[in-house]
Amino acid sequence: MIKNITETIKYIGVDDTDIDLFESQYVVPNGVSYNSYVIFDEKVAIMDTVDPRKGAEWIENLQTALDGRKPDYLVVQHLEPDHAGNIAKVMALYPDMQVVASDKAVKMLPQFFYDTQFEGRVIGVKEGGTLSLGGRTLHFVMAPMVHWPEVMVSYDSKEKVLFSADGFGKFGALSHDEEWACEARRYYFNICGKYGGPVQTLLKKAATLDIAIICPLHGPILTENLGYYLGLYDTWSKYEPETEGVLVAYASIHGNTAEAARKFADMLRARGAEKVVVCDLARCDMAEAVEDAFRYSKLVVAAASYDSDVFPPMHDFLHHLAIKNYCKRRIGIIENGSWAPSAGRAMRNIIDRFKDVQVVEPMVTITSRLKPQDIPALEQLADDLLNDKCDRCVE
Ligand code: FEO
Repeated sequence: MIKNITETIKYIGVDDTDIDLFESQYVVPNGVSYNSYVIFDEKVAIMDTVDPRKGAEWIENLQTALDGRKPDYLVVQHLEPDHAGNIAKVMALYPDMQVVASDKAVKMLPQFFYDTQFEGRVIGVKEGGTLSLGGRTLHFVMAPMVHWPEVMVSYDSKEKVLFSADGFGKFGALSHDEEWACEARRYYFNICGKYGGPVQTLLKKAATLDIAIICPLHGPILTENLGYYLGLYDTWSKYEPETEGVLVAYASIHGNTAEAARKFADMLRARGAEKVVVCDLARCDMAEAVEDAFRYSKLVVAAASYDSDVFPPMHDFLHHLAIKNYCKRRIGIIENGSWAPSAGRAMRNIIDRFKDVQVVEPMVTITSRLKPQDIPALEQLADDLLNDKCDRCVE
């Protein structure tokens, strides 16, 4: 797809609607876009390439957009293959073109392209580095760990365009028109979630720029109401809840833990909890469960015991949260076990790695099935979870 972003900046990216899993792990029912741009000035700069899966289509877009002109520069903001996969191909096509990348990226380039000759063809840039295209200057802002260490973003001070790399990206092909936040949030927490600190650093740098357009490497180009997107990124990267509510996530083998989880969700609703979301970790999209855990202010985990540990879908979920730096939430725990309940201890072992969380004590233990005598303990857990002054919540 080729379209004008401004009179002198063209979109030349591609949609990928036949990918099975993004990063070999995320379902993308509406595909994903690999964005790339060309800036036409006295000099011509390509902003990133695309995934090798769509290299031929991208080269065709590039050549159509160039309309016979030759690119002077390829700016590489991020070396992950979904954006850098065609660097060698386009370098071979345009032997006079220079590659512009962060110093860190310059060092890493031969790791991916060990049989490409980079000598004399690469310009390394640092924080505050610039590149004149004649009528405009690109300003480079280093953004390490948003989402890899070599990442930088680029600011066109003439047209007030921020090329934001993975920042402000979203799952979903551009051909699929949908609300931004849902798939942007799922993308953010699963791709960049661990790196809230670096995202905060980048946001502070971005606040010094006068930005009219954000051009990310995935998802739509943002041209209006930029404060909305920046505000969500600020909330997300501070690990603050976006929505007051409870995610009840359960991992149930035969349906008995599921029944307890659903009953507990009803208790929360009966107490006026504004938003209660229940998810079955054995069947739901794990990336969406992770997204919801970060979205809501409270989390309840309910799981069956399994092999003296916890039923694996719950282990997988909590492991995801731990590596994504889950923090700043209140957590309740429900375990189920028929002879030697072990799920609670196993969950607690992972939860203890989370920073700045409150765990409601004690956890609730049920044996095999929820029984009438279990109800008071669940009622107490529901009360404590929703009571911000609860003195049975330990940090
Ligand atoms: Fe879209 Fe970190 O690559």
